[in-house]
Amino acid sequence: MRTASKHCCYLLASLLLVACETSVEAPYNPLVDYEQLDPATIFATPEPQLSSSYTTEQLSRGRYMVGLLGCGSCHTDGALVGDPNSARLLAGFSTGIAYTSPFLDDDPGVVFPANITPDMETGLGSWTMERLV
Ligand code: HEC
Repeated sequence: MRTASKHCCYLLASLLLVACETSVEAPYNPLVDYEQLDPATIFATPEPQLSSSYTTEQLSRGRYMVGLLGCGSCHTDGALVGDPNSARLLAGFSTGIAYTSPFLDDDPGVVFPANITPDMETGLGSWTMERLV
């Protein structure tokens, strides 16, 4: 009988502990939802489009920089989840990237890598050099 009441005490004590732990609301920690993604297009860059405003040298330098800095690993659909759509290189990604700031303790924000192709309507085609830089 004595062992049974001892077990009862342990059970009550653990229930109390669980109840106490769950009643304290911890601030949201975005790292709980963090998932390491595997960029798959670090060096995948589309062929530059020939343009009368830029020399071949400028275009190949731009392509080199875009490849080197891995722009496609965020700005290409599917790239952040290891399944890049090679037909839509640099045309944007519909999956958002969450971010937080050490200065704010509210929920993280989400940004979506934009279409950075030279398309006039959906990309950067209409941007001036000043706006881009
Ligand atoms: C880590 C992921 C990541 C990488 C790598 C990256 N970007 Fe971005 N980029 C983003 C996100 C996310 C946005 C949208 C930010 C926002 O909405 O405030 C963005 C926005 C932009 C924009 C603004 C587009 C618009 O329509 O407003 C340009 C231009 C851009 N990126 C160019 C580049 C270039 C060039 C590179 C390579 C040197 C690059 N990005 C690499 C994530 C990335």
